[in-house]
Amino acid sequence: MGNNLLKGKKGIIFGALDEKSIAWRTALKAYDEGAQLVLTNAPVALRMGEINKLAETCGNAPVIPADVTSMDDLKNLFTKAMEHFGGKVDFVLHSIGMSLNVRKGKHYTEMDYLWNQKTLDISAMSLHRVLRTAWDMDAISDWGSVVALTYIAAQRVFPDYNEMADAKALLESVTRSFGYHYGVRNKVRINTISQSPTKTTAGSGVKGFDGFISYAEKMSPLGNASADDCANYCITLFSDLTKFVTMQNLFHDGGFSFTGVTQAVIEQMEK
Ligand SMILES: NC(=O)c1ccc[n+]([C@@H]2O[C@H](COP(=O)([O-])OP(=O)(O)OC[C@H]3O[C@@H](n4cnc5c(N)ncnc54)[C@H](O)[C@@H]3O)[C@@H](O)[C@H]2O)c1
Repeated sequence: MGNNLLKGKKGIIFGALDEKSIAWRTALKAYDEGAQLVLTNAPVALRMGEINKLAETCGNAPVIPADVTSMDDLKNLFTKAMEHFGGKVDFVLHSIGMSLNVRKGKHYTEMDYLWNQKTLDISAMSLHRVLRTAWDMDAISDWGSVVALTYIAAQRVFPDYNEMADAKALLESVTRSFGYHYGVRNKVRINTISQSPTKTTAGSGVKGFDGFISYAEKMSPLGNASADDCANYCITLFSDLTKFVTMQNLFHDGGFSFTGVTQAVIEQMEK
């Protein structure tokens, strides 16, 4: 049982693909904390059918398809979510990422620009699209909270993260820019969580991911944060306990981002 941190709150969760997904873990915790949910993912992801199990566990939450690159889909999603909730939405989780160049094995220096445009649209501008849809429909309650997930490759070079580094930098910028406007108009807060590498479908698409995950583990005083811990952090940001946190990129990485080197890494180098 949770602590009723989200009692009476209504939220839309984007991006629960399977039980490893950060969005899946967050939906379970949000429900446990008393929230009512609407779940959504791209139509092609919903065809797997996995999400119906999650919906059932979360009090038969409606599952509404939406490709985040389609404004019509997003409008339909917010319309149906508000009908279901009988009012506005209090929180939104944007847990979406996809790189066409990574998926098709294109090196950063040889990127295909049409694929790159699609990557930026799905992984970054989709946050703008979601916020713009909610803004036009006045669909998010005053003091509502929007969280998107990002990675430290937006600030530092991780070569195999490829074009997703640029996508995350753009995502973090949209968070600040829209965060300003939505803050002024409705006190809506918008933040990104910069999460440790985590074994999920999207994460495992990055080349050399296993070696990288153990490097990050050794470079973090607290070790890598799990998907469940990330979900807990999301809950705090959806709750009323963090009302004045907005336009931030918040590291949830066991201290990785501020560590120069660790004893464990030195020992490894001396071997
Ligand atoms: N796994 C990691 O190591 C890690 C680390 C830091 C940040 N993140 C970020 O966390 C977020 C969630 O990823 P995850 O690791 O849980 O992986 P995941 O593969 O479970 O989730 C990614 C989701 O994006 C959805 N998606 C892709 N294209 C879409 C579209 N056009 N419309 C709607 N949805 C679409 C997928 O269906 C999937 O549900 C992503 O933003 C990812 O970049 C992941």
